[in-house]
Amino acid sequence: MKVLLATQKPFAAKAVEGIEAILKEAGHEVVKLEKYEAQADLVAAVADVEAMIIRSDKVTAEVIAAAPKLKIVVRAGAGFDNVDLEAATAAKVVVMNTPGQNSNAVAELALGLMIFMARTQLTPATGSELQGKRLGVQAYGNVGRLVGQKAKALGMEISALDPFLTDEQIIAGGAEPVHSVEELYAASDYLSIHIPALPATIKSIGYDLITRMPKGATLVNTARKEVIDEDGLMKALEDRPDLKYVTDVMPDNYAALQEKFGLRVFATPKKMGAQTAEANVNAGLAAARQIADFLATGNCKFQVNKKW
Ligand code: 3PG
Repeated sequence: MKVLLATQKPFAAKAVEGIEAILKEAGHEVVKLEKYEAQADLVAAVADVEAMIIRSDKVTAEVIAAAPKLKIVVRAGAGFDNVDLEAATAAKVVVMNTPGQNSNAVAELALGLMIFMARTQLTPATGSELQGKRLGVQAYGNVGRLVGQKAKALGMEISALDPFLTDEQIIAGGAEPVHSVEELYAASDYLSIHIPALPATIKSIGYDLITRMPKGATLVNTARKEVIDEDGLMKALEDRPDLKYVTDVMPDNYAALQEKFGLRVFATPKKMGAQTAEANVNAGLAAARQIADFLATGNCKFQVNKKW
C-alpha cells in the first residue's frame, strides 16, 4: 500500500531512512512530501494514499475528503489538535499518535528555556539560578513528568497538577500534588505548561492566573499557543513588570510583546521542542511500525479518534 510521509517540518535524514526501511520491509511504498509550502500541496498528495505519517501538518476535513483510500493517519508526536478527528471518524479513518516518543526532547527544551530566561537571554546582566526555586508543572503526563524529574535534579522544588492522576501517582513521579490551577500558579516561580489544546483548555491561561504567580516568576510554554489568552498575557506583563514569558510556540502577538517587554519575553522562531535527531527517530519509527502493524493486523492500540 502507499504511505505518505507528509512533513512540512522534515524529520532528520536518519529518521526518514528508518521509516522507509520499516514500511518497505512490510511491503509498502513510501512517498514523501517534505517542506511543502501550501496546504493545497498536501490536499493534492493524498489522492491515492492508504496511510499517512504527519507531524504538525494539518489534516483537515478537506484533506480527508481528498483521500478516498485513506485508512490511517499517524501523528508522529503527542498532540493531535492538527487533525480533524470528527471528519476522520466519519470517513472511517483511524487516527493515532505516538505518545511519549518525543517527550524527552520537549522536556529538555523546557529546562533550557528556563535557564535561558534565568540568565537574561544570555546577555551579561546578572541572572539567577533555578536551584531552590519552585517549579509548577501543569499536567504531569509524559513531558511534564520528565520536566519535573530533570528539574528536581537541578535542585528545584516540584509541584504538579493533573486531574487524570491520583496524588500517589504524582508523588511517585517525584512531585508534590496540587489540587487547583490557581494554587499551582500562586506557588510557582517557574510554571511549565503541558496541557493539550482542547475546547476546554483553549485561552484558559490568562490575566487572572498569570498575575497569581509570585514576584519574578517565569511562565514557560512548550505546549500550544492556543492555551494562552494572549490579551490577558499582554496585560499581565504590563501590570507586573517582574514577570517573564518564554515559549516554543510563538504567540500571534509576539512582535508587540517583544516591542513592549524586550528581554522579558522570548519565543523560538519555529516550534522546535521535538526537533532533535533522537525524537525524530523515536517518533518517526514508532509511527512507521504502528502503520505496518495496523495494515497487517488491524492493531488500533494508539487510536485517538472515536471508533465507528
Ligand atoms: C507534539 O505534539 O508532539 C509536539 O508539539 C511536536 O510537534 P512537531 O512534530 O510538529 O515538532
